Formats: sequence, structure tokens, C-alpha cells
Amino acid sequence: MTLAVSILILEVWVIVHLLVYTVLTGISPVPTTPRVRSKMLEAAPGEVEGMILDLGSGWGSLAFAFARKYPRSRVVGYELSPIPWCFCLVRLWLRPQPNLAFRRIDFHNAPFKQAGLIVCYLFPGGMHELKPKLERELNAGCLVISNTFSVPGWGSDRIHVADDQYATPVYVYAMNRKGPSAQTSDPEPLSKWCPLVGELYS
Ligand SMILES: C[S@@+](CC[C@H](N)C(=O)[O-])C[C@H]1O[C@@H](n2cnc3c(N)ncnc32)[C@H](O)[C@@H]1O
Repeated sequence: MTLAVSILILEVWVIVHLLVYTVLTGISPVPTTPRVRSKMLEAAPGEVEGMILDLGSGWGSLAFAFARKYPRSRVVGYELSPIPWCFCLVRLWLRPQPNLAFRRIDFHNAPFKQAGLIVCYLFPGGMHELKPKLERELNAGCLVISNTFSVPGWGSDRIHVADDQYATPVYVYAMNRKGPSAQTSDPEPLSKWCPLVGELYS
């Protein structure tokens, strides 16, 4: 077998793996863009009490950035898709970040009890499935920061709007003893209709 054929087989294998896990999880490992990531970092507090969890860590775009911002907090990226997960392990080996780890598991089976901050970039169905677990397990004081997709039925404390061509919303939720701090219906991301709105609440 020639080298070219081996490379072709490897490429097909990688693509098939990525496609299979996209179907299984409902979302491809598309990364959070740098502008949205900056907005998420900006939306996060100065200090985080407890662990930082990236639910579906993909290629590590959020996990690495949050681990760098919070060197004293333990950051864990949960990812089911093997190739992005392996990529993150190699990335971590090349650029060690002592407070960061990646686990290849379904985040629905991971404990959230010690979380002080949850970050995610999922999809509407994923947020819907995640909601009962968040309500069951998150402690008062924990923050949830979600790229693009809101938690259905939770009114967010703040919606930041990224400085990109889609005016991507970043939803911020703070848990209190009774659950998310404002249980109102989701506000429409005004920025989708009026890009000049900029930051809605900050
Ligand atoms: C859109 S990507 C976001 C990646 C990264 N968090 C970022 O923002 O750059 C979503 C990732 O979530 C992963 N994912 C979806 N459902 C999952 C689950 N139940 N458990 C673990 N990973 C999951 C997918 O495999 C995908 O890599």
C-alpha cells in the first residue's frame, strides 16, 4: 500500500468518525469563534468558586481559554467525540496547563455538583436535555455561560452580544437557591434584528 493510499484511508476514517459522533451527539465539533470566546470570557466573573466545566469541549477552544484565565480553578472539558478529545490531549501535552483536564464521557453522566461555572456551545435540543440536570445539580452561586443558545424557560440575567457579523448572543445565568435567578421566558435576542443594539445588558 502506498503512502498516498494510507493517508487517504486515514482521512476517510477521521471524517467518518467525526460524522458518526456528530449524528450521535447532535452537533459537530465546530469551535466557538475568537470574538464570541472573548465575549464569554468578559462575561465571566473575576474569580470562580469551584470547578469550571466545558460541556462538549470539542477542540478545546473554550477550555484552554478559561483554564488560562483561571489558573487557580480546575477546568474539565467533557467530550464524547474521540478525535477532538485526542486532539485536546495532544494540545495539552504540547502546551501543558496544569489546571486543565479532558475526559471522554457524555457530560450527562458527569457530576456537576462541584461546578462554579459551566460553559457550553451546544444546540437547542441539547440545551433542552441539559436543563433538568442543571436544575437538579447546580449549587447556588454557579454561573452558566452559553454561546448562542439559551436554556429554554430560563430568563437570563444578562445577554451579551458578540462583536461579530451575526451579533451572536452569549447567555449568562446565575443559580440561586431556587434555581436560575430569573424564571421568566427567554427574551428575544434583539441583536438578531438590530445589530446596532450591541450589548443588551451588561
Ligand atoms: C459546537 S461544539 C463546541 C466545542 C467547544 N465547547 C467550543 O465552544 O469551542 C459541541 C461539542 O459538544 C460535544 N457534545 C455534544 N453532546 C455531548 C455530550 N452529551 N457529551 C459530551 N460531548 C458532547 C460534541 O461532540 C461537540 O464536540
